Amino acid sequence: MKRISIIDAKDYVGQTVEIGAWVANKRSSGKIAFLQLRDGTAYFQGVVVKNEVGEEIFETAKGLTQETSVIITGEIREDSRSHFGYEIGISNVEVVGESHEYPITPKEHGTDFLMDHRHLWLRSSKQHAIMLIRNEVIRATYEFFNNNGFIKVDPPILTGSAPEGTTELFETNYFDQKAYLSQSGQLYMEAAAMAFGKVFSFGPTFRAEKSKTRRHLIEFWMIEPEMAFMHQEESLVVQEQYVAFLVQNVLEHCDYALDVLERDKELLKKYTQLPFPRITYDDAIELLIKNGFDDIKWGDDFGSPHETFIANSFEKPVFILNYPKAIKPFYMKPHPTRDDVVICADLIAPEGYGEIIGGSERETDYDQLLVQIKKFGLSEEEYSWYLDLRKYGSVPHSGFGLGLERAITWISGIEHIREAIPFPRLLNRIYP
Ligand code: 4AD
Ligand code: MG
Repeated sequence: MKRISIIDAKDYVGQTVEIGAWVANKRSSGKIAFLQLRDGTAYFQGVVVKNEVGEEIFETAKGLTQETSVIITGEIREDSRSHFGYEIGISNVEVVGESHEYPITPKEHGTDFLMDHRHLWLRSSKQHAIMLIRNEVIRATYEFFNNNGFIKVDPPILTGSAPEGTTELFETNYFDQKAYLSQSGQLYMEAAAMAFGKVFSFGPTFRAEKSKTRRHLIEFWMIEPEMAFMHQEESLVVQEQYVAFLVQNVLEHCDYALDVLERDKELLKKYTQLPFPRITYDDAIELLIKNGFDDIKWGDDFGSPHETFIANSFEKPVFILNYPKAIKPFYMKPHPTRDDVVICADLIAPEGYGEIIGGSERETDYDQLLVQIKKFGLSEEEYSWYLDLRKYGSVPHSGFGLGLERAITWISGIEHIREAIPFPRLLNRIYP
C-alpha cells in the first residue's frame, strides 16, 4: 500500500493509502470517532465508523490518547467543510507508540510552562505554522541571492574578533587562547567579497545581551550579504528588493500558515511594494521631538518606543539613514560632507517590530580604518588581516545583516521573537 504525507492527500482522492501520524485530538460518540491527525506536513481529520470497521478497530480508535503515534489506513475523500479540504475514511488503525498524560492539553497554558516543554510545544499548529514560514524565508533567501549572482560563503563561528563591540561577547577557551562566539560574520564576508564579488552568509550569531525584550535572542541567525564595488545607495535597493521578495514568497507559499496565524495578508501585500521610504537620523530625531518625545536628543540611539513611532509614520518598512558616528561600529564609512555621521542605514519594520536590518558602506581607506581601530581600543595586530583588505586593491563595498528571527516575527505577526526559532536561547533560559 502507498504510504503518503497528509499534505499530498489531494492527489489520492478515492484511493486507499497509509499515513504515519500522531493523534492531535479526538472526539467520539457511540458509533463514530473523529481523529485530528498530524504528520508534520499538515493536519486533517480521520473518520472511524463503527459499522464499517467493526468492534475491535473502533475500540482502538476510541481509546487513542493525545500524541499517540499511529499508522492509519483509509480512503482519501474530499471534505468541503474543513479548511484543508480532505479527510480520510479510516479502515484500520495500528498503534506505533502510546502516549499517556501528554502535558500540553488543548486548554490554555502559561508561557513558562510552554517554554519548559518547547520540545513538545513545537508540535502545536501555531508553532508548526511559524516554522513553515521560517522554512520559506530561508528557502527564499537562497533563491534571491542565487538569482542575483551572489555566492554563499560561510564565515567562522569561533573567532578572535568582536566586530559589533566588546561588551556582548561569549568568551570560550580555544586551547590556550581566548576565543569568542561570532557576533557577526561581516569582517570575514568583507574578505570574501574581495575574493568573490557578491557574497552572502547564513549562520548563527551570539550576543550576550542582558536585554529581556520580545525582540532579543541570545543566539539568533543572520543573513549577511556583502558586495564589492557597491555604494550604500545600491545596497539599499538590494535590501528592499530582498525584504519584499521574502514577504512575496511567504504570501505565495505559506497561505495555510498565514491563516493559522490569522495574519492580515492585505497588510503584507503592501510591504511588497517598492521603494521603501527613507528618512535621515536627523529628521527622525526631529519627528520624535516634534511629537512630544522628551526622552531623546540628537546623538542618542533609538529605543523601541521611538522605533515604533517612526515606523507608524509610514505604511511600509522604513530606512533610517546616517546615524551618529559615536553610536555605530568602527568599520562604517564616514559621511563625505559631515564628520559626525556615517553612511549607514537600519531598516525598521512596520507594526512595532523594530530593526530587522543593520547595514552600511565600509571604510575603504587603510589609514582611516587604522585610526578607527585604535580609537575603539581594538588591537592593530589582531585586525591586521582585516586591514590587509585595504592594502591590496581596496574598493568601495557595502553590506548588511538581516536578523532572521526578527523578520519571521514580523512577517508572521507574532508577539514574541522566542517563537520564531525552534529552541530559543534567552537571558534566563538554555533549556530545553
Ligand atoms: O545591527 P546589527 O548588530 O548589525 C551587524 O551585526 C552587522 N555586522 C551586519 C552587517 O552589516 N553585515 O545586527 C543585524 C541584525 C539587526 O538588524 C537585527 O535584525 C538582528 O541582526 N539582531 C538580533 N536579532 C535577535 N536578537 C538579537 N539580540 C539581535 N541583535 C541583532
Ligand atoms: Mg543594529
